[in-house]
Amino acid sequence: TFRGRLMVDLGLPPIIGHRGARGLAPENTLSGLKAAFGQGVRYVEIDAKLTQDGVVILMHDETLDRTTNGSGAVAETPYALIHTLNAAKAFPDLAPEPPPTLVEVLELVQSVGGGINIEIKPCPGRERETAAAVIDVVRATWRQPILPLLSSFQRASLEACRDLAPDLPRGYLSEIEGEDWVAEAKSLGCTTLNLGWKMLTPAQVPGLIASGLPLLLWTVNEPEVARAFLAAGATAIITDRPDIVCA
Ligand code: G3P
Ligand code: CA
Repeated sequence: TFRGRLMVDLGLPPIIGHRGARGLAPENTLSGLKAAFGQGVRYVEIDAKLTQDGVVILMHDETLDRTTNGSGAVAETPYALIHTLNAAKAFPDLAPEPPPTLVEVLELVQSVGGGINIEIKPCPGRERETAAAVIDVVRATWRQPILPLLSSFQRASLEACRDLAPDLPRGYLSEIEGEDWVAEAKSLGCTTLNLGWKMLTPAQVPGLIASGLPLLLWTVNEPEVARAFLAAGATAIITDRPDIVCA
């Protein structure tokens, strides 16, 4: 029976830009998102983390060292200092820019009518706090009918999202080979499966999507791999290279 079934339009296109368009522009930056949009991408994945003083910014790592000209733990650095750093150091020809806040990113995404997968990437011990702060930003900033997809590798973050914002779709992220991903995702009431493609073959895709959960695969940077998984029925692939990986 379809009676009572809640249909959520996730607005997922087949190609999602990874950390913006990581292969083309600085990851998790406003210029990176603009680079993705310039390639025709309208849905992006980003990593969200808390500064020491509780501001949600975009940052993949626990430390500032790899992607900025700063150093030290994100969790021990206040936003005022992080805002002075350059998150575009991997692309020296580009103008410097600070790590953006999630507020800035949601406004930019909405300005192009796009969609977003917010990966909650908490520092250890801040799993619930980070989820709560992300939800607060989404509630205050997001105005479009297609809601952001909140995902995490951290069970505690997904549980917090379920408890605090059951209306927001949740993606179950896993890189654990041999895990029963569908059972784990369903035990948390998740809306999508977000899996590392290297754990899978295209032949496994029909069995996974038979669960009813859309399947998002990361990080697919080879066009032939993307084609094979999409042809097998994967919902979307998340790529660093939206310039060469096309649906
Ligand atoms: O959300 C998919 C993918 O980004 C997860 O891995 O390490 O790139 O954040 P990672
Ligand atoms: Ca990510």
